[in-house]
Amino acid sequence: MERKILITGGLGFLGQHLARYLLRTDPACQLTIIDNLSSSEINYAWLHNRAEILTADFRTVPLAGRRFSRIYHLASPVGSLGILTRSGYVAKEITDLALRAGELAADNGAAVLYVSSSEVYGKAGVQREDDELAVPVQTGTRMEYSLGKLAGEHLLCNLAARFGFRLTVVRPFNALGEGQSARIGFVVPTFFRNALAGKPLPLFHGGNQIRCFCHAEDVARGLVAIQERGKDRQTYNIGNPGNAVTIRELAMRIRELCASDSQLETVDPTQRFGAHYLEASAKSPCIDKIKADTGWTPAIDLDSALTRVYDYCSTIRGDYSCTPFVLGPSDLTSAVETTPST
Ligand SMILES: NC(=O)c1ccc[n+]([C@@H]2O[C@H](COP(=O)([O-])OP(=O)(O)OC[C@H]3O[C@@H](n4cnc5c(N)ncnc54)[C@H](O)[C@@H]3O)[C@@H](O)[C@H]2O)c1
Repeated sequence: MERKILITGGLGFLGQHLARYLLRTDPACQLTIIDNLSSSEINYAWLHNRAEILTADFRTVPLAGRRFSRIYHLASPVGSLGILTRSGYVAKEITDLALRAGELAADNGAAVLYVSSSEVYGKAGVQREDDELAVPVQTGTRMEYSLGKLAGEHLLCNLAARFGFRLTVVRPFNALGEGQSARIGFVVPTFFRNALAGKPLPLFHGGNQIRCFCHAEDVARGLVAIQERGKDRQTYNIGNPGNAVTIRELAMRIRELCASDSQLETVDPTQRFGAHYLEASAKSPCIDKIKADTGWTPAIDLDSALTRVYDYCSTIRGDYSCTPFVLGPSDLTSAVETTPST
């Protein structure tokens, strides 16, 4: 069956990994990408002639008469620093974007996969999709982001029930991979950039936070598994509990990979970024549900993932603006040229 697939936020970090995975594994697909370039820093020249690219705000771009069979909705304000610059507007932007995805699906019957966030759990520990969610008493931009994502889940679920389109919801835990931006606050590219430049690696709260990093290629494969095999109106964690690491240990591994003598430097993030900065102490996904329903499991361990990012970073030497998205030979040979749909 001919498949017209829309990726919103498709020029961003996870969006480009998803586009790359889809073009490699689904030669019949016709890909449209909508992205307003508000936080994307990765060169997307490789996508020309492979996808239709609309550089526009998804909330307002005219789409009358467009038909899509699948929508992957990733567009969102992102990153601990990326959201700070939009404090007070983040939740509305996220829910307006989710509403547009739901209205588009209601219009043309597309199946929607909504990329939410593990931030909705709002607490430390191992997180399961069927856990009750309690809103923490903290305030701040991060809470606004997580509540915006949660509201997006609920409004889409209600629209799906009302208009009868298929919906799956994904809560990714921390991702890493080639092309991730240091500018909006992601820790892995920040550590690589600083280690390669001989600058200190900043540790917030002593670096004792635990994170389970999942490589973006595993995330992309998981998104497609959920879109194709996940159960309707179900929510799924994506993450790699096998890659659990403290931020201090992560800094030491990256420093070693880069053969760097950068210092580890304890920093109070609220002094650097203001009182609205918040972060979780430990986050780990339970992935039993995605495994049971789709057969997906993460495949890339932390050392391999970090080595891939190191190879990427050392070719661009820390210059993250408009960096080339490195493609493997298999991407180039098996990607199919598509005629942009109108
Ligand atoms: N990277 C992670 O670790 C992680 C973890 C949990 C959830 N997520 C979610 O995954 C999705 C993708 O995140 P990412 O890490 O690739 O971030 P990213 O910033 O690289 O990608 C987001 C993309 O959305 C685009 N965008 C933002 N607002 C838009 C708008 N109004 N219209 C059109 N495009 C818009 C940006 O330009 C960017 O290219 C987001 O929804 C994010 O909340 C990411």
